[in-house]
Amino acid sequence: MEIRAFEFSRDLVEDLVLLVTEEDLQDYAWPSQEVKTLLLAQGFSGKSGETAACVYVPAGRETPVKAVAGGLGKGEELTLEKVRRAFGSVLKQAEKLKIQALTVLPWASERLAPGDVARALTEAGLLAAYRFERYLGEKKERSLRSLQIGYTPEQEVEVIAGIKLGQALGEATNLARDLVNEPANVMTPARLAAEAQKAGEQYGFSVEVLDKEEIEKLGMVAFLEVGKASVNEPRLIIMRHLGDPGNPEQVLGLVGKGMTFDSGGLSLKQAQGMHTMKYDMAGAAAVIGAMSALSREKVRLNVVAVVAACENLVSGTGYRPGDIIGTMAGKSVMVESTDAEGRLTLADAIHYIITKENASVVVDAATLTGAVIVALGNITTGVITNDSGLYERLQQASQQCGEKVWQLPSFPEYKEQNKTPHADLRNVGGREAGTITAGLFLEEFVQDKPWLHLDIAGTAFASKDGDYLSEGATGAGVRLLYHFAETYL
Ligand code: BES
Ligand code: MN
Ligand code: ZN
Repeated sequence: MEIRAFEFSRDLVEDLVLLVTEEDLQDYAWPSQEVKTLLLAQGFSGKSGETAACVYVPAGRETPVKAVAGGLGKGEELTLEKVRRAFGSVLKQAEKLKIQALTVLPWASERLAPGDVARALTEAGLLAAYRFERYLGEKKERSLRSLQIGYTPEQEVEVIAGIKLGQALGEATNLARDLVNEPANVMTPARLAAEAQKAGEQYGFSVEVLDKEEIEKLGMVAFLEVGKASVNEPRLIIMRHLGDPGNPEQVLGLVGKGMTFDSGGLSLKQAQGMHTMKYDMAGAAAVIGAMSALSREKVRLNVVAVVAACENLVSGTGYRPGDIIGTMAGKSVMVESTDAEGRLTLADAIHYIITKENASVVVDAATLTGAVIVALGNITTGVITNDSGLYERLQQASQQCGEKVWQLPSFPEYKEQNKTPHADLRNVGGREAGTITAGLFLEEFVQDKPWLHLDIAGTAFASKDGDYLSEGATGAGVRLLYHFAETYL
């Protein structure tokens, strides 16, 4: 999909997109009275989710033009996310009408800045066009080839910048979706590392990959225990974007869960649904995507990302329930379930990023618990934090990208559930408050650094098509982490 900025002129008429709020219905800059009449006659009222289309012949022309309108809902409740969703619905309608090129009318509402809207439209356009078709014998034909985002002369600079950022974020999100959708027979730890290296070369961040022997030397024993059963050996992937070298004390540390497959190990998962555990590296994909966008946009900030990539399988060499294992931080853990593996790999990755990469702030993204899906469904990412200021930054980031977040409580009382008589910690906190106890397990390794934990088990994957995201990997976390980083500028 090609997306470009376009200085709008009323004489240059192509197939058009009209995004309209309920209040603006009467006064909207309709291309002509005829278009307004045709669309309103179909009952179009500007409500959220509504679309309507018509064909008309512009004055002085012979060939007909199509117009597709999308409702934005109530003007005072308008958000960037509503723009994305309305545009997603319009694009679906345009595909049905076999439209090849679309022009969006210049943004007129004062509630949202034209640059932000251009970014949102670009993102939604790229995300809606995404398909994972690599393994299909016959690829589905799509009609829509290009999008032009109209601007008035005074909006030009902002709109061009918005499209550029939207492109970086949309493509980074689609990169993450590709990594997650790829099956586990292909996306092994070594392949994930190679993909991070490829992204690093393409977008300009440096990537270091450590193999099993080097991980052993670092003493990341919990991480190694989890990967022990698989012939696909673990990799520690370290990505660095040092955008603010004069400020070495400030390093944002991103940690992504990179379980390329999670069978549960000896605490085996049930067969039904196990295939979805190829997406247990969605946290890793999120940080690789975020690093790509941050370094592509040359953001003036030091960001380091770490992924402890491995595979949780079943074999005679694997770890067992009841094992007491060490961690890089020196704390011992009683393995109550080999299926609570994510917190073990993350504990070592978090300790590594603080002690070896000097991270001053840590954010981890992980498909960590089924419990977060029970609590929040696939709509909202669950958050645990030790720093309310950090959570406020995350909320700002959430406003920018539309990825929903919600903080869960982390009262110290919950920590009791992670205790066991014969080791410093146990890796299961019981059935109750599973997302919270998993988060608090990680907190044991953050050494009082400001820290955010994003449980994306529900949001990383969609079981059905949405307005602008299709079934499969969503790229959750990429745009959220990018905008979170931006709050430090
Ligand atoms: N990767 C899973 C979490 C998960 C479950 C993600 C379902 C997406 C959908 C994680 O490793 C896991 O197995 N967690 C266990 C923890 C339990 C054993 C304490 C869970 O949630 O059941
Ligand atoms: Mn598991
Ligand atoms: Zn897992």
